[in-house]
Amino acid sequence: MLSNLKPQSPDKILMLVEEFKADTRQGKIDLGVGVYKNPEGVTPVMRAVKTAEQRIWEAETTKSYTNLSGEPEFRSAMAKMVLGDVPTDRLASLATVGGTGAVRQGLELARLANPDVTVHVSDPTWPNHLSIMKFMGVPFVEYRYFDNETRDVDFDAMKEDVAKAVKGDIVLLHGCCHNPTGANLTPEQWEEIAALLEKSGAIPLIDLAYQGFGDGLEADAAATRLLASRLPEVLVAASCSKNFGIYRERTGNLIVLSDNTADRDQSQGSLAFLNRQTYSFPPDHGARIVSTILNDEGLRADWAAELEEIRSGMLALREQLASDLRDLTNSERFDFIARHRGMFSRLGATPEQVQKLKTDSAVYMVGDSRLNIAGLNRNTVPLLARAIIEAGI
Ligand code: LMR
Repeated sequence: MLSNLKPQSPDKILMLVEEFKADTRQGKIDLGVGVYKNPEGVTPVMRAVKTAEQRIWEAETTKSYTNLSGEPEFRSAMAKMVLGDVPTDRLASLATVGGTGAVRQGLELARLANPDVTVHVSDPTWPNHLSIMKFMGVPFVEYRYFDNETRDVDFDAMKEDVAKAVKGDIVLLHGCCHNPTGANLTPEQWEEIAALLEKSGAIPLIDLAYQGFGDGLEADAAATRLLASRLPEVLVAASCSKNFGIYRERTGNLIVLSDNTADRDQSQGSLAFLNRQTYSFPPDHGARIVSTILNDEGLRADWAAELEEIRSGMLALREQLASDLRDLTNSERFDFIARHRGMFSRLGATPEQVQKLKTDSAVYMVGDSRLNIAGLNRNTVPLLARAIIEAGI
């Protein structure tokens, strides 16, 4: 039987991680996978996470199963962080295995509710969105999103395509810090998307993987909150991997808002069912770290301060890179790097230019020219700027 297995196409982002590791050149620069690194190139355990882990270790008396949907403390703390005011009469939620698990369970829920669901997804998007939907057999269509000339959102095209979604469809949106482009909607444009969805009755599934990495914890949740306030039904897949730096703990939360308590209760039951069918109980350690931090004033403040340092550090690197490229090209061609938000920017380079960066300068970025700003530091920014020019970008 096993000889029937066919090779799966490898994940391009994860392949790049291996390729980078195998490169023996001194001074190689990793701008691949979306993992935060400090200026020393280390992905640190955040201070509040360490303290929370210590407290959990001291207080925990059992490792028995928790709740099928996850610990209520975690889920309510997450709902508060994401939504601000929590509409408990509308809210169902699920602790999941990372943000990816939340996306997957969100799609599973949509398919349970509507077996004929079509998902509308931005072109481009996180490649694993497409891979998961292909694997599940969920039909999807792409909506135009990125203007390769301006490196900003092609909003007219996006609106035209999102308007094609009909009632019962899902529109997958990046709540902030679009992956892979770094180009995001303005608050006014989000209003227009809300109006379009209001009109069509299509439901947003908001992937919120980088809250706190763009314009701040509150600002990055604004689009999600707007849609939650305007639309009767909203799904949010929130990840704690990046903003809590707990990548390997696999901590995510799926929020489902419905417009009445009967649908809320039915949704909650279906969510618990989905966890049971997939992996039974969700992992608890990461979720417990998050709720320990969010429910303690001091820890929360320390965590938020460290997250803010990370965010402003990335913004400074964006400014520096844009400014170095301004000097080198004597133009404003690369100013979009400073305008983009989050971990990523799409340079708009050709695959050959991306390959040249790797071969000639040991700079690794994803083949679509997505670079991870957090892979840089003050010293490597000028090297990258020069390499970009040398690669003819
Ligand atoms: C990324 O886009 O690099 C991250 O979301 C990590 C991943 O799993 O792909």
